[in-house]
Amino acid sequence: MRVLLIGSGGREHALAEALAADESVDTLICAPGNPGMARLGECVRVNANDPAAVASLAVTSAADLVIVGPEAPLVAGVADAVRAKGVPVYGPSREAARIEGSKAFAKEVMAAANVPTAAARACRSREEIEAALDEFGAPYVVKDDGLAAGKGVIVTEDREAALVHGLECERVVVEEYLDGPEVSLFVVSDGEAARPLLPAQDFKRVGDGGSGPNTGGMGAYTPLPWAPDDLVAQIMTTVAEPTLAELARRGTPFVGTLYCGLALTSKGLKVVEFNARFGDPEIQPILSLLESPLGELLYAAATGRLADFGTLWWREGAAVCVVVANEGYPESTVTGRPIYGADQEGVLHAGTALDAAGQLIATGGRVLNCVGTGASVAQARQEAYALAEGVKLEGGHFRRDIAAGI
Ligand code: AMP
Ligand code: GLY
Repeated sequence: MRVLLIGSGGREHALAEALAADESVDTLICAPGNPGMARLGECVRVNANDPAAVASLAVTSAADLVIVGPEAPLVAGVADAVRAKGVPVYGPSREAARIEGSKAFAKEVMAAANVPTAAARACRSREEIEAALDEFGAPYVVKDDGLAAGKGVIVTEDREAALVHGLECERVVVEEYLDGPEVSLFVVSDGEAARPLLPAQDFKRVGDGGSGPNTGGMGAYTPLPWAPDDLVAQIMTTVAEPTLAELARRGTPFVGTLYCGLALTSKGLKVVEFNARFGDPEIQPILSLLESPLGELLYAAATGRLADFGTLWWREGAAVCVVVANEGYPESTVTGRPIYGADQEGVLHAGTALDAAGQLIATGGRVLNCVGTGASVAQARQEAYALAEGVKLEGGHFRRDIAAGI
């Protein structure tokens, strides 16, 4: 089959590698792709957030399956436009993607489906924000009610800082603080049937020990040796299945990845957030362990045949991803510096480009993803860090404690 993959980050490079390894995928087209993905398929320029442009590319490239990687095209309605052309697409409609695009909508769906989550107040004025901050107390959790690439949230003990952030947001949600470790579970769905991937954990803060501001994610590992055996089953029955059923009941079935971001709190499992796509960087280590054919799996989901797809197979062992970020990330990013050492097996491209002379340069905040595998998390971690140490990028930085002590 011919697969058109939309996106250009580390998540998409990982998807491209897994698709290229699937015998049923004979042609892979990446749009716009990146220099790493260019080794696996043809890269075609497109504005990924333009529904009409992506739909027309799906038709002219005779794609049998379109996979939409990032959230922005989904929220813009790219999947709807491709579907309207009769091309199978893995990725939710604009309406279903609101589960990520609007925190208030996600809360409404969870309330209707009886899914456990942090208590929250949508606020419209300074008075409402202050009342909600005082109702829940510290630590304060204040979220921008829109897409902010994981950066619209602050968690702080400082009431003033919480208030200032709240006043900066156009629409704001103030939430109860959830304690306990976080888990990401990605659930592949065709709108009815659902299949979980391996659970993972990511590291959101920029600095070691969880210091500094939130980022899109600085590293991740899978599976979770410390998690209870029934964790995935529990998430499926208490979170994923009721949420997917509620979206279907509303006439907006969710076809794509329901990303369940959870906290295992002292009062049980609770949803921190939903996203409408694979998590980045968690999907990178997860896919490095997937043995089942990814193209066939996502095609089955895109065509409503997931119930017929066999068991998912995984390699034994564990995988760890360490993100190499650009100087200044996440506040500001210095771009255009040369990168050396990126052509190692296990190094995925996230924010890279080739300059006019053909030199690989850093263009994004998160530049490369170093993915190691091994018999244990500790072994996988060693391999991931060996890769990260082998990368030369002036000002580049990575956390030293990804998956430490697991
Ligand atoms: P979100 O964009 O909703 O995923 O939030 C980004 C990050 O902020 C999450 O991954 C958590 O680390 C943290 N966070 C969000 N909501 C809460 C909460 N209610 N309690 C504690 N931490 C939270
Ligand atoms: N790793 C967090 C995210 O993809 O939103």
